[in-house]
Amino acid sequence: MKWLAVCAGVVVALLTWGFWWVEPAVKQPIEYPHKTHVEKLKLACTSCHQRAEKDAVAGRPPTALCLACHSGGETESDEVKKIRAFGEKGEEIPWKRVWRLPPHVFFPHGTHVVVAKLPCQTCHGAMETLDRPPARPLRTLTMNDCIGCHEQWKWPEATKEGRPGPVSVAGGRRIATDCNACHR
Ligand code: HEC
Ligand code: HEC
Ligand code: HEC
Ligand code: HEC
Ligand code: HEC
Repeated sequence: MKWLAVCAGVVVALLTWGFWWVEPAVKQPIEYPHKTHVEKLKLACTSCHQRAEKDAVAGRPPTALCLACHSGGETESDEVKKIRAFGEKGEEIPWKRVWRLPPHVFFPHGTHVVVAKLPCQTCHGAMETLDRPPARPLRTLTMNDCIGCHEQWKWPEATKEGRPGPVSVAGGRRIATDCNACHR
């Protein structure tokens, strides 16, 4: 009987280990609600994820930005108290990554957000509806999704005035589907 219990234990351990390995659920240090900040307060996505317009990575807001609104007055909220505790220690909140491509894939945010003018939701889903941090990506992109869009992409027509700008300059240009555009 003892052996049976040990075997069952091993099987359960292997199963759960396998499960975590396939799709680890992320637990964030603070129960941050996107909904309150985006839908109610009307903050732009890039007001917090500022690097998304210039860099490859989108980045997470510094603790100081949260404290700009959350440092004043008494609070009943345990979550807001946690923000203040990080602030008092002079620490950044250790947010964990949820969306992550394999290390051999290069994805540049700036190009997609500024040049292609894609809304964040195209790739991330309706973040603005979340009351708590997502444990897993709401939507994921496979290689075929990336290449599919690159192959079919049509640049919008140039403006009537023929204004130079990313749209008219880029008109007709094909987007890379070479392996080494994404694999570096
Ligand atoms: C522009 C002002 C502003 C900024 C910037 C801001 N918040 Fe908020 N936040 C609010 C307001 C207003 C509420 C709703 C009222 C409240 O509960 O304090 C809120 C609510 C919250 C809540 C829910 C509180 C509860 O328990 O009900 C959390 C958690 C929170 N914010 C975390 C953060 C974090 C983390 C950051 C930085 C990434 C941040 N906020 C940045 C204004 C802001
Ligand atoms: C007030 C600041 C704030 C605003 C505004 C905001 N976010 Fe966030 N975002 C955060 C914080 C803090 C986290 C980390 C906690 C979490 O996952 O909820 C985060 C996490 C994310 C992640 C997960 C990143 C990862 O590590 O994989 C995505 C994607 C994201 N936000 C997209 C958006 C989009 C899209 C919008 C606009 C609809 C938006 N955010 C608006 C603060 C903000
Ligand atoms: C064309 C698809 C696409 C669009 C549009 C897009 N993202 Fe992302 N995002 C991704 C992918 C793919 C990853 C994972 C990248 C990696 O692991 O290298 C990611 C990762 C992130 C992360 C976590 C890692 C990091 O870079 O800091 C945040 C935060 C994020 N995106 C926010 C945003 C916001 C905010 C917008 C809109 C301003 C946006 N994204 C637009 C595809 C997209
Ligand atoms: C919904 C459409 C769409 C999706 C989905 C998309 N892209 Fe793109 N991507 C574009 C557009 C449009 C451009 C061209 C911008 C430019 O030429 O400056 C681009 C440009 C790029 C570039 C720069 C290529 C070059 O020629 O310099 C890379 C790298 C890239 N994408 C990687 C990815 C990866 C990796 C994914 C999937 C995780 C992805 N893209 C998903 C539309 C998309
Ligand atoms: C537009 C971006 C893009 C282009 C172009 C691209 N890939 Fe990928 N590739 C990805 C992404 C994103 C992943 C990771 C997600 C996935 O596995 O679907 C990936 C994953 C892979 C993998 C790993 C598959 C796995 O199961 O782990 C291989 C191998 C690969 N690509 C080979 C290629 C080859 C060969 C080419 C050229 C013919 C190519 N890729 C072109 C974006 C791209």
